[in-house]
Amino acid sequence: MHENKTEDKIIVGNEIFTPFISEKKINDRVRELGKEITEDYKDKLPVFIGVLNGASLFHADLIRNVDLECEVDFFKLSSYGDDKISSGRVKLVKDLGCDVKGRDIIIVEDIVDSGLSIKFIEEMMEKHKPASMKVAALLLKPKSLRYNVKIDYIGFNIPDKFVIGYGLDYAQKYRNLRAIYAINEENGK
Ligand code: IMP
Ligand code: MG
Repeated sequence: MHENKTEDKIIVGNEIFTPFISEKKINDRVRELGKEITEDYKDKLPVFIGVLNGASLFHADLIRNVDLECEVDFFKLSSYGDDKISSGRVKLVKDLGCDVKGRDIIIVEDIVDSGLSIKFIEEMMEKHKPASMKVAALLLKPKSLRYNVKIDYIGFNIPDKFVIGYGLDYAQKYRNLRAIYAINEENGK
């Protein structure tokens, strides 16, 4: 049970998270992205590559809103660091199971913050020579971007605030919240 969760806030230690993007808004936007991708990939057989663990929910919902034949795969990255601040280093923990050579791939990410993870993924994928590569991210923090990356499908641009829910974690928890909650600035960042 979420012991410290009420309708309008979640308390984690001495930090407070409040509702930020509702379940309905998420669902509506994911449906729109699915339609857009369906249009863009007509007559193609894309591979939706989810980045574990965070993108698992978005990935599952996105592909169900795409009206195309498609394939799926996943890999997993780890970034060392504390719970809220990335260390600036990423490593591959679980590799893909399929050969993406000559395939149209769509990388599915939960959130792009500095852009380091996406940069790492793009460089890694390019070595496998896909026919095309695009990136879909549910959230983008434009003010935090430090790397030159192009995100092709963006769910929401958000301010530079730490968020949880809908796949996004705080110390591995809260991924199963149906909505997205943002940290209350007065209580930390
Ligand atoms: P980047 O490599 O700096 O772009 O960070 C991307 C990764 O950091 C995401 O895939 C998330 O796992 C994590 N991350 C960044 N911002 C947040 C956040 O606000 N909440 C939860 N995880 C985040
Ligand atoms: Mg992630």
